[in-house]
Amino acid sequence: MRVLLFLASLGLVAAENGLDGWLRYAPLPCSQQCKSKLPANIVALNATETSPVYVAGTELQQGLESIYGTKTGVSHDKCKSSSSSVVVGTLEQYRKTCGAVKDIPDLEEDGFWIDTRNNRIRILGSNEKSVLYGTFEYLSMLAQGNFSEVAYATNPVAPIRWVNQWDNMDGSIERGYGGPSIFFKNGAIVDDLTRVKQYARLLASVRVNAVVINNVNANATLLTPTNIKGLARVADVFRPYGIQVGVSLNFASPQTFGGLDTYDPLDASVINWWSNITDQIYDEVPDMAGYLIKASSEGQPGPETYNRTLADGANLFAHALEPHGGIVMFRAFVYNQLNESNWDADRANAAVNFFKELDGKFEENVVVQIKYGPIDFQVREPASPLFANLLNTSTAIELQVTQEYLGQQSHLLYLPPLWKGIFDFDLRVDEKPSLVRDVYSGKRFNRKLGGSTAVVNVGTNTTWLGSHLAMSNLYAYGRLAWDPTDDSEGMLQDWIRLTFGLDKTVLNAITKMSMESWPAYENYSGNLGIQTLTDILYTHFGPNPASQDNNGWGQWTRADHTSIGMDRTVSNGTGFSGQYPSEVASVYENIETTPDNLLLWFHHVDYTHRLHSGKTVIQHFYDAHYDGADTAQTFLTQWESLKSKIDKERYEHVLRRFEYQAGHSIVWRDAIVDFYHNLSGIADTSKRVDHHPWRIEAESMYLDGYETYTVSPFETASGAIAIVTSSNDTVGTATTKIKFPSGTYDLAVNYYDLYGGQSQWKVYLNNKKVGEWIGNAEDYLSHTPSIYLDGHSATRINFRDIKVKKGDTLKIVGTPDGVEPAPLDYISLLPKGIVD
Ligand code: GCU
Repeated sequence: MRVLLFLASLGLVAAENGLDGWLRYAPLPCSQQCKSKLPANIVALNATETSPVYVAGTELQQGLESIYGTKTGVSHDKCKSSSSSVVVGTLEQYRKTCGAVKDIPDLEEDGFWIDTRNNRIRILGSNEKSVLYGTFEYLSMLAQGNFSEVAYATNPVAPIRWVNQWDNMDGSIERGYGGPSIFFKNGAIVDDLTRVKQYARLLASVRVNAVVINNVNANATLLTPTNIKGLARVADVFRPYGIQVGVSLNFASPQTFGGLDTYDPLDASVINWWSNITDQIYDEVPDMAGYLIKASSEGQPGPETYNRTLADGANLFAHALEPHGGIVMFRAFVYNQLNESNWDADRANAAVNFFKELDGKFEENVVVQIKYGPIDFQVREPASPLFANLLNTSTAIELQVTQEYLGQQSHLLYLPPLWKGIFDFDLRVDEKPSLVRDVYSGKRFNRKLGGSTAVVNVGTNTTWLGSHLAMSNLYAYGRLAWDPTDDSEGMLQDWIRLTFGLDKTVLNAITKMSMESWPAYENYSGNLGIQTLTDILYTHFGPNPASQDNNGWGQWTRADHTSIGMDRTVSNGTGFSGQYPSEVASVYENIETTPDNLLLWFHHVDYTHRLHSGKTVIQHFYDAHYDGADTAQTFLTQWESLKSKIDKERYEHVLRRFEYQAGHSIVWRDAIVDFYHNLSGIADTSKRVDHHPWRIEAESMYLDGYETYTVSPFETASGAIAIVTSSNDTVGTATTKIKFPSGTYDLAVNYYDLYGGQSQWKVYLNNKKVGEWIGNAEDYLSHTPSIYLDGHSATRINFRDIKVKKGDTLKIVGTPDGVEPAPLDYISLLPKGIVD
């Protein structure tokens, strides 16, 4: 401990792998005055080791020791009257052991009271888990060196504060970027649940109260007797942290798994089957939270097979769960494949079309779980209009912490500003204030149930999500599920202090880059409401705008040579804008009142259409992509400025991501601007697009053992052409004479890092090696790798300060490996301040 304190005081901290997330309880110096504020003993008013109150006591003890080096005893039965103690318990426990409680406002379910005045700290909850919430609140203050005297009660905005994991039974995770599952392996629940316990601790600290542990694309084998027993072991681990478990179900299970000849939700044998299975689960897990159902969606079976409604489907589970107090989270993500040649076809219309007429037909324990936007977790979407169309049905909002369409944790993206834009949107139902957050919390339409859920997808990686900085999203998600009005920057700064310590420079730099990260990503991925222009048919990671159109998935842009955007007006388009209440509908219906950032979501316009900003659509595209990529370059330099202030392990890990993002943001930028430049034929007024004075194309170099390769999509290679070695065991060289003026340059090399091989590249200047690297991104970056030369595998590496003389010979030697033929796209020699 003393060594750690010493290191901390020097600003150098021991290497950390991220496992403790924001609950590291890093040592802080403690003056005499600080010592006098620390409690001398802990009273946790429950002696049962598996109770959240007991856990609160242990957590306090560990926290005090780890942060301030003090050893503090815990007792359970007596209410110490000593002036310096921390007492944690439910109101009821407190009254019984310590006597009357004065001056505390009424607490709602899961609410707690925290009072740190006069060295007599009391953390009292309406129930056991809320005691733990309050304890983590107090520990968060201690870990930030905050000894202010506070006394307040806080209550959650809604009862549902869940997370979803899309874990498969084989241990893989759909859209997971932090390694394999902590829950499953080889078709069963894992034996060692250590990581599950650590996850429980993190979730409880931000007041999440339930976790659905398996993929919405569910596998019925979770329901074998062995796996139900496994589920019970998982529930036992979560329970002391006040967290319930839930499971995703496959609608066809009675037939595919249970051996019935039907899965008709109104068939008696099916009803019986589900109620039996449900009883079996509750025998093992008496406090199971409930079920999550993806039915009639993306090929998943559902009630429509038997001409039953989605409400029939949801109510089937509701009836089975009702005797046990469980709830059904029924997903509104239901849509069909569509034909783009129909001008009025629109996937965005689907949820309201399917669910509006069912309003009021769901049982009381059904909650319709609605993605924040009408399509699918895009970088910008309007709020889902379904929130304005279910007045007699409980709802929950579905968010994604896992950055599926948003950089897959290989790009920084702090999500709360995006989420809060949706929460705060006023739907004006019946011309009255109707903020989305007041709808899903149940307040606006007087619903008892409601709340939030987020697809998190942590894995066994010690960083949990695949990147240290991405954990701010999980932390903030929990806080927003409790209080959606919490401030994006304030939450972020708490998280930074808890994760990286109290240094102001660190605080400012990470705040700045995180707050800039969503606008930057939107700028270089997809602007003006056109969606994330990623490859929707493959990995959802890198650029591929053409993949949006000419298929049935309905994420269309309708881009042609002259115009772009979805006409979703009632007057001339798909009618989507008419799904909003009239005041909102008229804003979106009218191109004049539609905000620029959603223009192409609602309107189909010429590239030369002028935005409110005064720019044309196409010039906005060009400028935004250059701006966004420029901002991403600054993340790298800002991070580098923190080198001496962050432990090596986390510094290097994050550094690698920022190096990658700096390069990949340029891949994005160039792909998108080239694509639309090619399509529209309209020049960039700033003459950047298609103008690369500092590049040398690989295909223009002298090649030996390398040959040219036409890349698809074309815009993911500079000039559409790359080079690859002529066979899998031929070493290739590409040589060129430098024609630029002599000077010091940064050397950028664009290459492709494919899955299935780890090629090596070496760069020589006049036969002296100036750089080398290996194509092993699949080993250290989190995003889904690609087996092709495309926008996912396109990567850019940078070597700084290379002294070059005009006439020098630059040679790159590529050694292929596996299926990766050492592909190269171009090099850039960059004078200071230029990014080309
Ligand atoms: C997205 C995602 C799928 C997922 C689906 C869902 O489309 O790409 O992997 O299954 O959403 O939310 O059900």
